Amino acid sequence: MQCVRFSPARVAAPGGLRKPALVARTTVQRRTVAAAANGNGLPIDLRGKKAFIAGVADDQGFGWAIAKALAEAGAEISLGVWVPALNIFETSFRRGKFDDSRKLASGGLMDFAHIYPMDAVFDTPDDVPEEVKANKRYAGADGFTISECAAKVARDSGKIDILVHSLANGPEVTKPLLETSRKGYLAAMSASSYSYVSMLQRFGPLMNPGGASVSLTYIASEKVIPGYGGGMSSAKAALESDTRVLAYEAGRKHQIRVNTISAGPLGSRAAKAIGFIDDMIRYSYANAPVQKELAAQEVGNVAAFLCSPLASAVTGVTMYVDNGLNTMGLAGDSKTLLERDS
Ligand SMILES: NC(=O)c1ccc[n+]([C@@H]2O[C@H](COP(=O)([O-])OP(=O)(O)OC[C@H]3O[C@@H](n4cnc5c(N)ncnc54)[C@H](O)[C@@H]3O)[C@@H](O)[C@H]2O)c1
Repeated sequence: MQCVRFSPARVAAPGGLRKPALVARTTVQRRTVAAAANGNGLPIDLRGKKAFIAGVADDQGFGWAIAKALAEAGAEISLGVWVPALNIFETSFRRGKFDDSRKLASGGLMDFAHIYPMDAVFDTPDDVPEEVKANKRYAGADGFTISECAAKVARDSGKIDILVHSLANGPEVTKPLLETSRKGYLAAMSASSYSYVSMLQRFGPLMNPGGASVSLTYIASEKVIPGYGGGMSSAKAALESDTRVLAYEAGRKHQIRVNTISAGPLGSRAAKAIGFIDDMIRYSYANAPVQKELAAQEVGNVAAFLCSPLASAVTGVTMYVDNGLNTMGLAGDSKTLLERDS
């Protein structure tokens, strides 16, 4: 079921002409991949496939939406949850806080085969500093480095077919690059780009030939988005470049595909921490070719496609799922254009 709300909005047409318009706003994108799997048209059928998704800590972000799409298509899902967020995620899950968003088209609830603690800035136990081990947010958690997490997945699931990296972190994201410290810059790269290299190193050998991996990137990698600082733009540029190199290397070594989705703005928890996400959503709404708010599920559905046999010849690609905003060279709602009108 698709819920579409129409709201009158004043939008600026190219050239600065202002006119009222009726705008379709997709609030809930429930046109799921399962609808296709049930018989009409091209199916995305991931039954019997196992997926590991790193970067889910609530039901608001892209990681959850990808889990949902993969579950609709029949895949078994396991999660890697950032250690400081794990407790609250599991408690909320147990208490039914996510039950509405867990509902599948079949009537059942999305479930997870395994939930593992994970911190993607550490590769092996030797990398974990004493102060992290002593930190109360890490109390009781063990085996959360990427290599240990991969070992647990191998133990519990054997081989997997789908690997998703939906995480990023930049402690100085609110600082302009010109004011970013070396430490902050390297931390952004470590959490947001190298973590993916490390995941493919460790999870690649667990993946069945024909498997696929996907990560999430952002247009700030290639165009200047003031406010997306702290080295996060650099980290996304690295992630996109690495996607191509890893597609080649992991393609040859493991016969798997590696792609990244350049997503439009979404008011996730991580994005809210940056502080300007509402402006970005409004900007996209006013200026993108397709005038609607991006639903996380639209990204989830494309991820399911990229991880399915339907995309068996697609690898090394940065795929835009942003209502087409990346194609625009002119902001139709620019004040400069509007002034010409008055
Ligand atoms: N929200 C947007 O507007 C937007 C746009 C384009 C791309 N993206 C990308 O989408 C991906 C998912 O982000 P989101 O916006 O859905 O937010 P989100 O908050 O749902 O996801 C980010 C996740 O990263 C996890 N994380 C942070 N540091 C970690 C670490 N060291 N180890 C393991 N996990 C860690 C967090 O716990 C969280 O679950 C990110 O790569 C982000 O850059 C987001």
